[in-house]
Amino acid sequence: MSKKFSKEPIRGMDDYYPQDLREVNWIIETIRDVVERYGYEEYLTPQLEPIEIFAAKSSDELVNEQSFIVEKKEGERLILIPELTPSLARMVAKKSQELKKPIRWYCVPTCFRYERPQRGRRRAFIQPNVDILGEESLYADLEIFNVIVDIFTEFGATTEQFQIYYNSRRFMDSVCKFILEIKEEIIPLVFKVLDKSDKLDENEFEKYLIDTFQDEIIIQGILKLKDSRSINDLLKKFDNIPQKFYKSEGYLELKKFEQLIEEIDIRNYCTFSSGTVRGLDYYTGIIYEVFDTGTENIRSIFGGGRYDDLLSIFSEEKITGTGFGMGVYTLSLFLKTYNLIPEDIKEKDYSDTIYIASINEDMSTYAFELARMIRDDDFPCMIDYRFKNLKNQIKKANELGILIVLIIGPEELAERTVTIRNMVSEEQKTVNFDAVIEEIYSIIDEFNEDKFEQ
Ligand code: HAM
Repeated sequence: MSKKFSKEPIRGMDDYYPQDLREVNWIIETIRDVVERYGYEEYLTPQLEPIEIFAAKSSDELVNEQSFIVEKKEGERLILIPELTPSLARMVAKKSQELKKPIRWYCVPTCFRYERPQRGRRRAFIQPNVDILGEESLYADLEIFNVIVDIFTEFGATTEQFQIYYNSRRFMDSVCKFILEIKEEIIPLVFKVLDKSDKLDENEFEKYLIDTFQDEIIIQGILKLKDSRSINDLLKKFDNIPQKFYKSEGYLELKKFEQLIEEIDIRNYCTFSSGTVRGLDYYTGIIYEVFDTGTENIRSIFGGGRYDDLLSIFSEEKITGTGFGMGVYTLSLFLKTYNLIPEDIKEKDYSDTIYIASINEDMSTYAFELARMIRDDDFPCMIDYRFKNLKNQIKKANELGILIVLIIGPEELAERTVTIRNMVSEEQKTVNFDAVIEEIYSIIDEFNEDKFEQ
């Protein structure tokens, strides 16, 4: 016997059977509906990019440890996109003169990361991205927060089930610079370490801190930055905060942002989190991650933030942007945890599909002609190709949940008629070929009236 290959997909990657894809598509369509209400338009990028554009400002870990690299013939190395933002920046930089600002775009790519597969993390994952570019004001960040809240509420989730944990890179810069007096060039390293704080346990984190910094004052300072849930909570941990901190752009901007989320009444959905600093290098302003507030799903569902300088790797023009990426997989785990996936999307609905059953194979051409007419009227239509044993064909239609079966036999063929079977009442009626569509509509009207009365 010849060797049989494994039926499994590559580790960390998934096959989507139609049933799985129905759920994924339902999630994506719901997101699409929300973002299009805000005027966002869809775009698409290639899945392969030059590695340099991610190496420049994404993260060392992402490029060096978590990437799928494709080697081209000439030795040029390409990367299977681990995230989308550098590609978005490239596309915007390329046409920045002609694009009307602000640019509101969304995309539904598959991204690839060589991570340890686990609950909430796969090696290939669908990551809808929503970004607004060319709008400097905090209202852009506020709009993005609103979009996130609307997406979750559209799925029926409540503030008790999810929170947007936010912070600001500029604010944390000011804390490091003016309160902890950490040298500017070390601050990115502080963020890198802090980003690990919720991924490592307490002992691992302390060891990682000591290995990275060796300096006891910095280590004690960073430990204080870890898990405050309000700006006041965080600042209470420090004595003698200098006035220049309270006058810094980072502090003032974050305070203003908090006032705005209060004013538009989404405060309940948002929690300040000093440990949220984001792992990607290009963030400069307000940053955020969405988490399940329960204990079942510990990985972030959404992640995003403001990037002021990302386009500078492609052009001299400065265009700021803010937005998020979200995992369809992580969101689906969240929705399942709270029973927010409706039952009726789990099975394919054949109730509007017309089924053609034939008494023998002599009717095959007639069946194709009939099916074409029905599809031309926008009804899905399936032909049973067994062409014998009518009882079995009707049984099959019944199993699928079909409501209307068209039966054709020698008599129907000779007289150009069709017998229509209402699968609910089990009534049958023979009509002329040209009257079939009208009869289908009248049976559907009957079903709808019955549904309405119930
Ligand atoms: P990120 O935090 O790396 O941000 O990813 C955003 C979301 O993508 C995560 O919260 C998670 O739901 C999902 N995700 C990430 N890695 C995986 C994985 N291995 N398996 C399943 N889901 C995953 C970014 O990628 C930024 N580029 C987002 C952004 C857009 N920032 C501004 N605009």
